[in-house]
Amino acid sequence: MATSLRFSLVLLFICFRLALSDSVAASVAVNYGRIADNLPPPSQVAQLLKSHGLTKAKLFDTDSSVLSAFSTAGISFVVSLPNQLLSSAAAPNTSFTDNWVQSNILPYKQIIEAIAVGNEVFVDPQNTTQFLVPAMNNIHSSLVKLGLDTSIKISSPIALSALASSYPSSSGSFKPELIESVIKPMLSFLKQTNSSLMVNVYPFFAYKDNSNTISLDYALFKDNAGVVDSGNGLRYKSLFDAQIDAVYAAMDALQFNDVKIVVSETGWPSKGDENETGAGKENAAAYIGNLVRRVLTGGGSPRRPNEPLNVYLFALFNEDQKNGPISERNYGLFYPNKERVYDVPLTLAELKGQSNANGSTTSKTQIPAPAAAPTSSGETWCVANVNVGEKKLQEALDYACGEGGADCSVIEEGAACFNPNTTEAHASYAFNSYYQLKSRATGTCDFGGAGYLVTQPPRFGKCEFPTRY
Ligand SMILES: *[C@@H]1O[C@H](CO)[C@@H](O)[C@H](O)[C@H]1NC(C)=O
Ligand SMILES: *[C@@H]1O[C@H](CO)[C@@H](O)[C@H](O)[C@H]1NC(C)=O
Ligand SMILES: *[C@@H]1O[C@H](CO)[C@@H](O)[C@H](O)[C@H]1NC(C)=O
Ligand SMILES: *[C@@H]1O[C@H](CO)[C@@H](O)[C@H](O)[C@H]1NC(C)=O
Ligand SMILES: *[C@@H]1O[C@H](CO)[C@@H](O)[C@H](O)[C@H]1NC(C)=O
Ligand SMILES: *[C@@H]1O[C@H](CO)[C@@H](O)[C@H](O)[C@H]1NC(C)=O
Repeated sequence: MATSLRFSLVLLFICFRLALSDSVAASVAVNYGRIADNLPPPSQVAQLLKSHGLTKAKLFDTDSSVLSAFSTAGISFVVSLPNQLLSSAAAPNTSFTDNWVQSNILPYKQIIEAIAVGNEVFVDPQNTTQFLVPAMNNIHSSLVKLGLDTSIKISSPIALSALASSYPSSSGSFKPELIESVIKPMLSFLKQTNSSLMVNVYPFFAYKDNSNTISLDYALFKDNAGVVDSGNGLRYKSLFDAQIDAVYAAMDALQFNDVKIVVSETGWPSKGDENETGAGKENAAAYIGNLVRRVLTGGGSPRRPNEPLNVYLFALFNEDQKNGPISERNYGLFYPNKERVYDVPLTLAELKGQSNANGSTTSKTQIPAPAAAPTSSGETWCVANVNVGEKKLQEALDYACGEGGADCSVIEEGAACFNPNTTEAHASYAFNSYYQLKSRATGTCDFGGAGYLVTQPPRFGKCEFPTRY
């Protein structure tokens, strides 16, 4: 009896920890594009990623020279089935996908965590859309035969052009001609297999074509007034968040509220031609640097504040053999000689190094966990989500400090955490106090959507955010 009770408690604890780490693990990874004739060999690339603390990458194929060079590098991969193979993969039987999985996936099963089936298939000039969902199903069947279906997820990156409407975000909807033929069947597949929808998100494209109406600061995550969504009142501080929520809104409209998004590509070119407004090294550095900070420390999007963001930067290297405008060959974080195109933090560890170098007020106890395992320490804090609006935030703050029993003495005038004197800072302090007092139990950082979890110590002025009371 005692043993089984203890066993149940241990199980309960494990489940809780799993649920918790699921709900807070944001990540930054990188697309390892290889359309170039001057890239370093894969073994050196493995070293390069490791030396920058990057632990996840995405390939546009299943190249065995890459996967075997990375087999012991401790880096996990999303690999891709190229669009040209979609029609074969969609055959009435699974002979093709059985073979493909056997030779391309099975040997590297330890380092493959997902398969991207095609890329931006709806805009493939070869019109391969009809093959997409049958190919996904066949690959899934082939994985099932090898017992790999739970460890390896299947999805397909879509371009934002799959949307008919994306502004305001809350009006997001898929193109009508895609909905019945491919979107609904694909979302059903993702839902059944617990997979996320992969979305390629490029604020740069929207900015380049609308630089008169879209503020550059808004596109680059710099300080700006934000844009209020006229449909639901949420305030967007970045175009990136607004674009993601447009896809969430489009899924919500089809009642697929439970499918998550992973950002399979996002980036900003460091060079462009005369018509590519906004391309340039300074803007690229601002976009990537601020994006990384936002993803690792800023919680989910306004529509899904508790859903951590997982992004794959585009791309690792400048790729000299790509067609198209100048920008296409200049999305890299690195030149082929492995030098940085611009120097911005790519991980929590690098973010931390940067704050220290600037002599910030961060004290030792507030230094976040190492980048490789941001959640392994289990440390989490609860902070305020300003997107719910001042009124809701104030109500939740009043609740936390009143009935909730949070320790709010330090946010009173004159006390250590009074400054900055903002509702966001005060509510964050109160929410965190409540959350920690409740031993970080599930649901105690909800506050009707006004609170969300972060894996780094919050920073408001000199206020410290305890994890123990
Ligand atoms: C599967 O389909 C291919 C071509 O569509 C065919 O050549 C092959 O014989 C089929 N295999 C089985 C086991 O039915
Ligand atoms: C693409 O294929 C679909 C389904 O076969 C067809 O209805 C559509 O007309 C094709 N579109 C183009 C542009 O070829
Ligand atoms: C999906 O996740 C749910 C809840 O975690 C679980 O019950 C279900 O078995 C999973 N389904 C698959 C196909 O992995
Ligand atoms: C830029 O746009 C103008 C006007 O459309 C066009 O004439 C010119 O060729 C474009 N430049 C490049 C490099 O594409
Ligand atoms: C650190 O200083 C550099 C140069 O002044 C600045 O660009 C960067 O944003 C600062 N970082 C932080 C975290 O304040
Ligand atoms: C703190 O902020 C509130 C609300 O903006 C304001 O009414 C109050 O005067 C401020 N107090 C101090 C001391 O600045």
